[in-house]
Amino acid sequence: MRITALVGSRRKNGNTIIIVKNLLKTAEASLPGAETEILYLGDYTIEACTGCEGCRTSWDCVIQDDYPAIVSSIDKADALVLASPTYWYTVSSDMKRFIDRSYSLIQYPVSRHEWISKYSGSGKVCVTVAVCEQHDESMMGSTLTLLNDFSRDLGIEVVASIKALGHFEAGSVKGDSAVIDQAKQAGRKLAEKLGPV
Ligand SMILES: Cc1cc2nc3c(=O)[nH]c(=O)nc-3n(C[C@H](O)[C@H](O)[C@H](O)COP(=O)(O)O)c2cc1C
Repeated sequence: MRITALVGSRRKNGNTIIIVKNLLKTAEASLPGAETEILYLGDYTIEACTGCEGCRTSWDCVIQDDYPAIVSSIDKADALVLASPTYWYTVSSDMKRFIDRSYSLIQYPVSRHEWISKYSGSGKVCVTVAVCEQHDESMMGSTLTLLNDFSRDLGIEVVASIKALGHFEAGSVKGDSAVIDQAKQAGRKLAEKLGPV
């Protein structure tokens, strides 16, 4: 079983990655043999979607950069973790460019109101993670809902979501036992979903 985490923060000692690492460590401990990998989207060149519609009848984006490498990791994964800090009420631009380019992962064979995803029926599952500085949930804006809607549109069921409010300094979330517990719980949930029935 393989769990791939896509991380939208470039702070490698930041809050988002601490949550992701706690989650993955718990999943590994709960599911012997599970393999995990972390992709920092900022380490990849992901150009902006141009809306060219070159992916209209193909699962592949026509832009030649590092985006296909990320898709090939998703292809191999049984579970995803989509994790982003809040930047101006939504996901970081690294995460947003990745999401926009993933327009290539859906197609509209019948009408513009109905789409199918490359991953429909794949059985892949997902955990979403959002972090923000303010304590007022409205300041998180669409970060978590966007990640949840995106995963659902890709046909990947969201089995847990983690919301970390009130964290600004890199690493401050380490001292937030409620959030770390949520991360561990999500790790166990993933293991349960991926484990033998
Ligand atoms: C460009 C930028 C925009 C931000 N916008 C928001 C925001 O709209 N709401 C909020 O509560 N925090 C905002 N923050 C704070 C971050 O979400 C917060 O510091 C978070 O802990 C960063 O996660 P990281 O440590 O994983 O990078 C912003 C930070 C930056 C750098």
